[in-house]
Amino acid sequence: MAAKTLITGGAGFIGSHLVEHIKAQGRDLVVVDNLSSGLESNIQPLLDVHCQLIASSVRDAVDEYPKLFADIDEVYHLAASVGVRTAVATPIGTITNNIEETRLVLEQAKQQNARVLICSSSEVYGKPMRQPMSEDDDLVIGPPRCSRWSFALSKAVAEQLSLAFAYQHGLAVTVVRLFNTIGPRQVGDYGMVVPRFVQRAVRGDDLEIHGDGSQRRSFCDVQDVVSVMPRLLACEESYGQVFNIGGDTEISIDQLADLVIELSGGDIRKRYVPYDQAFGPGFEDPARRIPDLSKLREIIDYTPRYDLRETLSKLIRLAKQEHRTAVSPRHRRGKDQFL
Ligand SMILES: NC(=O)c1ccc[n+]([C@@H]2O[C@H](COP(=O)([O-])OP(=O)(O)OC[C@H]3O[C@@H](n4cnc5c(N)ncnc54)[C@H](O)[C@@H]3O)[C@@H](O)[C@H]2O)c1
Repeated sequence: MAAKTLITGGAGFIGSHLVEHIKAQGRDLVVVDNLSSGLESNIQPLLDVHCQLIASSVRDAVDEYPKLFADIDEVYHLAASVGVRTAVATPIGTITNNIEETRLVLEQAKQQNARVLICSSSEVYGKPMRQPMSEDDDLVIGPPRCSRWSFALSKAVAEQLSLAFAYQHGLAVTVVRLFNTIGPRQVGDYGMVVPRFVQRAVRGDDLEIHGDGSQRRSFCDVQDVVSVMPRLLACEESYGQVFNIGGDTEISIDQLADLVIELSGGDIRKRYVPYDQAFGPGFEDPARRIPDLSKLREIIDYTPRYDLRETLSKLIRLAKQEHRTAVSPRHRRGKDQFL
């Protein structure tokens, strides 16, 4: 049987770009996504006999299609409950989903002897002791009363589980810690800052900055991120290892807001909202989060192709097009037909 790629969470933001990228390489694909935060429309144009979507959780897909993994030789596991807002609102779902589905993917991959890439997050660094953050640094997770850390803990356990499968079973598994990834199809609903700023800027609304805006982050275009993943998975030296993937140019959230305002060309103001008000009492946010990319660069040649200004300009252009379509009289007439 022909070998196929399985992408869990492939209808989500990053997953949909990865589906596009892998399909362009000529591989057959199966996407498993329960559409909890992803959308079928993200990959609809890519679906055909070579790229199929199973719209369910990984657990249900394995139950319903016991042979799901039978002709799979590589797996990208992106399915997860994501975002700070989700972790704060539904910590039980976040913890169980992120750990149990990862375990299932690893067990199935082991039976099939498939290569696996597990998506982790820069969140696992918690409150880092130094910058830039390197894969061997201690993980300093905040106190249990602060439920934002449920996401970091769930991802840290999923990482350890993956490394345990590499160690105990010799599974070819690579863990990647993604830093703030941005691009088309990302939504702001789960707390991601760039889509929130861009959507508000094109509508002419104030940009809401959590805290005083001095917190610093580094952003990376999703195209750069997904192009690294198959290269890492093809590289035997990556198995049983953890790698940061991201951009290494840092910017404060206040400066990011200024850049979005400048590029959108609107008369927009910044509004500062205390963390307690935005996320509830006791919320904690790391002051800086910058990846050390030297380990990644030791095994593959990696230089991000897109800079922040370029990606933001593209996102603002796309958001303006969508906004114009949504408010155009023709579109409104279409909606009125149903009144
Ligand atoms: N976007 C970022 O900046 C970023 C940063 C660090 C890590 N990551 C990681 O990258 C991965 C993809 O994130 P994203 O930003 O594309 O988010 P996303 O929400 O768009 O993608 C996650 C996808 O997983 C699906 N999903 C959730 N639980 C599932 C389950 N049990 N079974 C099947 N599908 C399920 C969702 O419907 C969604 O399509 C996640 O593992 C996330 O933790 C993302």
